Amino acid sequence: MPTDIKFNTVLAEYQDRMLDENERMASLSVSERIERRDEFLLSVGEEAAIFMNLLVKSSKAKSVLEIGTSYGYSTLWLAEAAKVNGGKVITLENNIDKVIYAKAKIAKAGLSKYVDFRTGDAIDSIKKAKETFDFILVDIWKKLYVDCLDAFYPKLNDGAWVLGDNMIFPPTTKNETLAYQKRIRELGTFESILVPFGSGIELSQHHLKS
Ligand SMILES: C[S@@+](CC[C@H](N)C(=O)[O-])C[C@H]1O[C@@H](n2cnc3c(N)ncnc32)[C@H](O)[C@@H]1O
Repeated sequence: MPTDIKFNTVLAEYQDRMLDENERMASLSVSERIERRDEFLLSVGEEAAIFMNLLVKSSKAKSVLEIGTSYGYSTLWLAEAAKVNGGKVITLENNIDKVIYAKAKIAKAGLSKYVDFRTGDAIDSIKKAKETFDFILVDIWKKLYVDCLDAFYPKLNDGAWVLGDNMIFPPTTKNETLAYQKRIRELGTFESILVPFGSGIELSQHHLKS
């Protein structure tokens, strides 16, 4: 676990918000949750966040792409790893209010230098990006997963890790995440496995064909 005081202060603030949100979400119906989804962090959760943080560090990934910033919970963990590696996180989000909130948290954690916030449609941002990537978190609305994959596929470095969240939970988006799983496995350049923690992660490593 990172020991930096500023990181841990901000992490505790997210954890408080998460506890509060979990209670509020439990009182809503499925349709109300969908309708009000922009009020919530919708984060990958602590297990997945720690896993990603460790994977970025151990793979020494420098160029990290996060597709779906939301309020910045996963960005915090990715940015801490990018700092250790001397790298950077490019994070994509189209909701300006969420980006303002996430920027403030990342600044408070002392990690602004390691995050490049790009506001707007994620698929456009991926297509416009001049960078190539060592690590990608796919955590946007699930109907966009396959389009995201097609957009970032030509920009993957050899050995790049790609993590697709929400493969198991929520069940309401199962068809969309299954389409992503099928596509990434059929491309023929990934070793890919479903890891059943957090909301279920499709963990894939890309190997350039020689
Ligand atoms: C599940 S949340 C991301 C959670 C975040 N990764 C975390 O763990 O804290 C998905 C986010 O994708 C954003 N999003 C949905 N469609 C988008 C699009 N076309 N372009 C950019 N962002 C989008 C939503 O506003 C939402 O904040």
